[in-house]
Amino acid sequence: MEFHIACIKGDGIGPEIVDSAIRVLGKIGSQFGHEFNYTDVDAGGVAIDKTGAPLPNETLDICKKSDSVLLGAVGGPKWDTLPGHLRPERALLGLRAGLGLYSNIRPAKLFKALLSECPLKEEIVGGGFDMVFVRELTGGIYFGERGRREGKMGPEAYDTEAYSITEVRRIGKVAFELAGKRNKKLTSVDKANVLESSRLWREEMHKLAEEYTDIEYSDMLVDNCAMQIVRNPRQFDVLVTSNMFGDILSDEASMATGSIGLLPSSSLGEGTLGMYEPIHGSAPDIAGRGVANPIATILSAAMMLRFSFNLAKEADAVENAVAKALEEGLRTFDIVGTSGATPLSTARMTQEIMDRI
Ligand code: IPM
Ligand code: MN
Repeated sequence: MEFHIACIKGDGIGPEIVDSAIRVLGKIGSQFGHEFNYTDVDAGGVAIDKTGAPLPNETLDICKKSDSVLLGAVGGPKWDTLPGHLRPERALLGLRAGLGLYSNIRPAKLFKALLSECPLKEEIVGGGFDMVFVRELTGGIYFGERGRREGKMGPEAYDTEAYSITEVRRIGKVAFELAGKRNKKLTSVDKANVLESSRLWREEMHKLAEEYTDIEYSDMLVDNCAMQIVRNPRQFDVLVTSNMFGDILSDEASMATGSIGLLPSSSLGEGTLGMYEPIHGSAPDIAGRGVANPIATILSAAMMLRFSFNLAKEADAVENAVAKALEEGLRTFDIVGTSGATPLSTARMTQEIMDRI
């Protein structure tokens, strides 16, 4: 089969890790008889430098016409002082909203081989954990009304969290369906003891729970959830969250897997067009040195194979190759820990993974 992929390498380590994913997809293509075509488009800091805008119209148009989007990372200190609407991060929000990608799947799984890299004690993580965040991605405080105004105590700034029943139900359905394909356990995260938007969120989730009677459903307040992730991560299967709570909790969970350099993500809407990116950022401190961990981006490509292209066997092949490389003790600098392994470069780790496909 033939697939068209819009490629946003972005800033910092973005180009290095996207190249790794492309090499891995090349190996899959030749082994399984598929053709992946790439169109490079700019977004983020590089786009600001070239065109003045973080998300040029042409980029969004090409993404819309593609079968899916592969993204490295955007942002960096160079653009940190720009006003909000001109920052590189705006490109991500514009892509998510412009492509209607409301459901962000972020698996946080502790590889057995990396048990010793997990900062939590062994009695807490036991044989590992495997949870998935289903994060709402096009609503909430990220997209609510915001601004500056004169308040009672002088000038102030505000951002608004708003959720419609429609938005809550559609992300809820994604989460219940996913839980049905896994261990049938769903935790909905909110702050219903304080926020009205969370009370509506909880009401709608409860209605869905009545439709999905085979799923063991529970509510959890976000502050408690932050604690439970480090106290007992093994209790979780699927978690469904608002945009902001999912942003924060998925970073917390990623650290418990050993490194943020390991975690992939997918963002999907109603169709099969998705955007796939590592959950980490552009890591300007190590950019251009060829040492970044390519695994999160390679696993994102695997999610693309599975969710956008319906190529489950191929996705398994990539995921198994990554697990094998880790089991054999191969490490990039961020996951060397106490293993005593020699850290591999980005290119070398990529090659080792390809060799195991
Ligand atoms: C993420 C990032 C983004 C977010 C930023 C860069 C806009 O932190 O994908 O988790 O907050 O969604
Ligand atoms: Mn984040």
